[in-house]
Amino acid sequence: MRLRGTSRINERGHLEIGGCDVTELARVYGTPLYIYDEALIRQKCREFVDAFRSSGVPFQVAYASKAFCTMAMCRVVAEEGLSLDVVSEGELYTALRAGFPPERIHFHGNNKSPDEIDMAVGARVGCFVVDNFYEMEVLCDVARRRGVKVRVLLRVAPGVEAHTHEYVMTGQTDTKFGFDLESGAADRALEEAARMETMEVVGVHAHIGSQIFETAGFRATAEKLGQLAARARERTGVTFSVVNVGGGFGIRYTEEDRPLAVSDYIRAVTDAVRTAFGRIEGYPLPEVWVEPGRSVVGEAGTALYTIGSWKEIPGIRRYVAVDGGMADNPRPALYGARYEAILANRANEPADTVVTVAGKCCESGDMLIRDCRLPDPRPGDLLAVFCSGAYQYSMASNYNRLRRPAVVFVRDGAADVVVKRETLDDVVGNDVLPERLKGRGPA
Ligand code: LLP
Repeated sequence: MRLRGTSRINERGHLEIGGCDVTELARVYGTPLYIYDEALIRQKCREFVDAFRSSGVPFQVAYASKAFCTMAMCRVVAEEGLSLDVVSEGELYTALRAGFPPERIHFHGNNKSPDEIDMAVGARVGCFVVDNFYEMEVLCDVARRRGVKVRVLLRVAPGVEAHTHEYVMTGQTDTKFGFDLESGAADRALEEAARMETMEVVGVHAHIGSQIFETAGFRATAEKLGQLAARARERTGVTFSVVNVGGGFGIRYTEEDRPLAVSDYIRAVTDAVRTAFGRIEGYPLPEVWVEPGRSVVGEAGTALYTIGSWKEIPGIRRYVAVDGGMADNPRPALYGARYEAILANRANEPADTVVTVAGKCCESGDMLIRDCRLPDPRPGDLLAVFCSGAYQYSMASNYNRLRRPAVVFVRDGAADVVVKRETLDDVVGNDVLPERLKGRGPA
C-alpha cells in the first residue's frame, strides 16, 4: 500500500495524516469522516504552477471546484494563487463567500440559467466559458443590460475521444457540452461572438474527459484548436490569447493505475499548444490554461469509516459493512470505481483476509470495495479508504436520509473542521409538513 503526502503509520500502528492520529480524529469527530491532507493539496497546486513556470509558457491553473468545493478549499486554492472553475450558482456563491478573487473565477456549465449568468456578471467573474448559442444570447442580453463587456472562451467539442470511462468522456462530437467542430458549429459560434459588442472573445476551451493516463488526446485537441484558431483569425480577425485544454489528469486509485506525473502532463500540453500554434504563420503563442480537479484534491482525501456488521457466505464471500457507502461515495456504483483501504487502527497487522466492503444503503449495488485485503476486520475497526478527495463529498447525497459526513483539514498535528457533520435536524430541515397533514391520527 502506498501512503501519500504526510500519511504514515505511527508508533501505535495507527494511520496518521497531517500529524494527526486518525483513531483520535474518529473519536473526536465521529465517522464517516473525510480527512484532507492540506499540505498535499498545496503540494499538488504547486506541482502545476512549477511545471508551467519551467515550461516558460504563460498560463493559468484553474482548480475545477466540482471535485470538492467548500469555502476552506477555495481559500487554500486562492492562497496558492490558482484560479477557480465553477459551474453553478452554488459553486460561485461558495467561492465568493470564501473571498475568492472574482477576476480569477471561470464560469462553466452547459445550462447556466439567466439568474446564474446575471449573478456571475454582477460579481465580475474573470470569464465565461460559453457552451451554446442560447447561452450566448442570454449572456449578451445580461451584459447589455448591465452595461459591461464580458470576457468569453468558447467551449468546443473537438471530436477527440479520450481513453477513459464512457460516463466521463466529453471530447467526442456526440456530447452535451460545447460547440462541435465537425458540423461547423464552433466556427459559426466564433463568428457570432466576434460580432457581439458585449463580448470579448479571448479564446477557446476543450475538456476531453477525466482520469486520463496518456497524452495523445491532449495533443490531438491542441491540433484541432490550432486549426480552428487559424480559421477564426482569417474569418473574424479574432486572435485567441487563451487556449484552455481542461482537466482530466489521472491519479492513482489502485496499484494498477498508471498516471503520469503532473509535470509530464503539463509538458505534453504546453508542447502540443506550442507546436499547433507555432505552425500558424505569425500567431502569437496563447496562454495555456488547465483545469485540474481530481489531480489536485483526489489523493489528499481519505474517507474514514467504522466497520459494523459482517456476513459470511461459506465458499463465496465475506461481507463487512461500514457506516457510510454510496451516499457519501457513489463512484463505485456509478463508474465501477476501485479503491484501496487499510484498517487505520491496526495498520501494521498482516492484511491476510479478503473481504468485500459494503455500504449501509438499502441497495445491492452499494459496495465500496470488492475483494479488499485487510487484517481480519472486526466491528469497531476503522477503515481508511485512500484517494477519496475528489467527486465523493461533492457528489454525496442524503440517500436513505443518511447524514452527510463531516470534513476536516489536517495539518501539522492539528485538525480543523471545514464542514460540519449534518444533524438529524438538518436532514429534515427543508421538509414542510402542510397544515392539513399535521396532528391527525391514523386514517
Ligand atoms: N474542466 C471541465 C470542463 C470539466 O468538466 C471537468 C470535470 C474538469 C475540468 C475537471 O476534471 P478532472 O481534472 O477532475 O478530471 N464524477 C466523475 C468525474 C466527472 C468529471 C466532470 N468534469 C468521477 O467521479 O470520476
